[in-house]
Amino acid sequence: MGKLRVAIIGMGPIGNIHADVYKSSDYAELVGVCDIIPERAERAGKRLGVPYFLDAKEMLEKLSPDVCSVTTGGYEYSSDHYEPTILALSYGCHVLCEKPICNDIAKAREMVAFAKEKSLCFGINLNHRFTPAFRIAKRWFDEGRIGDLLFINMSLWIGKFQDFESPYYHLKALNPHSVNIMQYWGGPIEKVQCFAMKAPGRTIWSTASINVKFKNGAVGHLTSSYDIERGHPMERCEVAGTKGRLVIEDMWREAVLYPAGDLEKRVYTNPVFGGFRDFNDTFRDRINTFLREILDGVKPEEIDGSGEEGLSAQIVIEAAIRSLDTGRVVSVDDI
Ligand SMILES: NC(=O)c1ccc[n+]([C@@H]2O[C@H](COP(=O)([O-])OP(=O)(O)OC[C@H]3O[C@@H](n4cnc5c(N)ncnc54)[C@H](O)[C@@H]3O)[C@@H](O)[C@H]2O)c1
Repeated sequence: MGKLRVAIIGMGPIGNIHADVYKSSDYAELVGVCDIIPERAERAGKRLGVPYFLDAKEMLEKLSPDVCSVTTGGYEYSSDHYEPTILALSYGCHVLCEKPICNDIAKAREMVAFAKEKSLCFGINLNHRFTPAFRIAKRWFDEGRIGDLLFINMSLWIGKFQDFESPYYHLKALNPHSVNIMQYWGGPIEKVQCFAMKAPGRTIWSTASINVKFKNGAVGHLTSSYDIERGHPMERCEVAGTKGRLVIEDMWREAVLYPAGDLEKRVYTNPVFGGFRDFNDTFRDRINTFLREILDGVKPEEIDGSGEEGLSAQIVIEAAIRSLDTGRVVSVDDI
């Protein structure tokens, strides 16, 4: 099987993680990197042993890659995603863009529509659910072991204490993962209601409680926080139905099935040998899944973790922000 030629736009910490994954992938050849900050471009290019550029257009013209990672950041950790994504798509690249898809919903819609028009795969790095634990839990779900969905409880707590440029930074930058996971199990979210607080000494909405109603009638809740002190971050996903309940702890660490009417539970634990070692393995799994799908000729509308999914998550977050600002329940269709 031939390898896909890959380039990366944005060589901050996350662009460098993508680069390491591509370098070690059986499906990719990293052919170039780019950053508008000369030291970042040069440092990454030299470290990785590939040509480096200060201008994305020049890189795309010279290298004609098959795939491009967009790992820029910007305002609310996402305002710099739009331009390079549109550019790479216009050069015929499949694009894997970091989350959040874009802080501006109109632009995010354009990104998804343009990829569709070009019939190119456009993925968002929703890496938190690309783990063996999630796949096993999905199998339980698809086998009908959960039954009809009743509720989903999702939590994601990490510590991020620097000054942020926007009061909505935490809501927009952290929650694409969690909302995507909730919709992964529950399908489209219809209505949203959000309370949030600015923890002592903070200027942003740093801890939030978000209630949702799914279109299928099930209910859900998300607790998200940037206020957890170093050492105790956590992610937990609980999905309950008429026949059972499943819980996934910390993305890859453990998945547990609690069958209704049976006091014996079933547990998958990440193995010490050959299992996930750390958070970077979620990038490895997610990126290799994207590459494999392209090589296998999966249709752009059928790829896992699509631009459409990233957009849908961002729209739900926008509804949560509108709810926070107005004190009302907000319909996702109104965004
Ligand atoms: N998936 C995850 O788990 C995860 C975790 C953390 C961050 N992220 C996301 O990863 C992205 C990058 O994060 P980071 O911490 O590396 O950000 P960063 O700001 O440190 O790095 C982004 C880099 O992109 C460069 N850049 C901006 N516009 C450019 C352009 N047009 N052409 C070339 N380079 C350009 C900047 O100069 C900068 O060096 C963000 O969108 C963030 O939300 C994802």
